[in-house]
Amino acid sequence: MSELSATPNNLDTIVNTANIARTISFETSPIEVRAVREDEIHCVADIITRSFHFDRGWMAWFTPLFRLGIAEDLRHRLRPRGSSHNQNQIQQQVCSIAVYTEREQTQVVGTIEVGVRTAERYRQNPHRYVYISNLAVSRDFRRRGVAQELLTNCEQLTQSWGYTELHLHVMGNNTRGRNLYQKLGYEIISVEFVWSILPWHRPERLFLRKQL
Ligand SMILES: CC(C)(COP(=O)(O)OP(=O)(O)OC[C@H]1O[C@@H](n2cnc3c(N)ncnc32)[C@H](O)[C@@H]1OP(=O)(O)O)[C@@H](O)C(=O)NCCC(=O)NCCS
Repeated sequence: MSELSATPNNLDTIVNTANIARTISFETSPIEVRAVREDEIHCVADIITRSFHFDRGWMAWFTPLFRLGIAEDLRHRLRPRGSSHNQNQIQQQVCSIAVYTEREQTQVVGTIEVGVRTAERYRQNPHRYVYISNLAVSRDFRRRGVAQELLTNCEQLTQSWGYTELHLHVMGNNTRGRNLYQKLGYEIISVEFVWSILPWHRPERLFLRKQL
């Protein structure tokens, strides 16, 4: 078992929300998809750091810093907002994790974030939409359907919030991600170009949507 092991405990779930826990069949052991707990945030930060290559080349020097920054950022985003009397309201920013259990040891093997974003805030009735980010699966657990389960969980959350569409960005050169989203029925609604200091290198970023 790796250093990413996390033992279930009685700490409060950081996201007090109607996150829908699912258990999927995974060879002989189960994988559960559920909301992250405070004490598991460092596992999520580690998966993201490794999955998005913040641990390779010259960036390896700064890996602990990246990991810490990602964890703090996530903690901040998931912090319950508002006064204590509305703490039981559904908080529309959720980080879900996929947890693998074997011989009573648990390991966080995948993560995803979903939340409601607001566009055109200046308008009287700003446009709100559901946005997915930070989908990542540990290398040892890839190609076993974990990402699909995390995305299915997001779809259920989205419907429970009363929305019928999901949105996300994927880089044009991310073949794995593009295949995954295509398989699950996402369609490209726009192509954006990312700013770069190299004028001849303008990576493509695709904005995708899925109608539920
Ligand atoms: C992309 C990623 C999340 C996929 O996770 P995963 O758990 O391996 O995905 P799944 O097993 O659910 O795969 C579902 C489908 O995605 C596509 N896919 C996944 N990995 C792929 C690969 N290496 N090559 C081609 N297609 C791939 C396939 O269509 C696959 O269906 P199939 O197995 O029936 O062919 C994972 O590779 C990852 O963490 N990558 C780094 C981070 C990243 O790119 N995140 C997405 C940012 S938008």
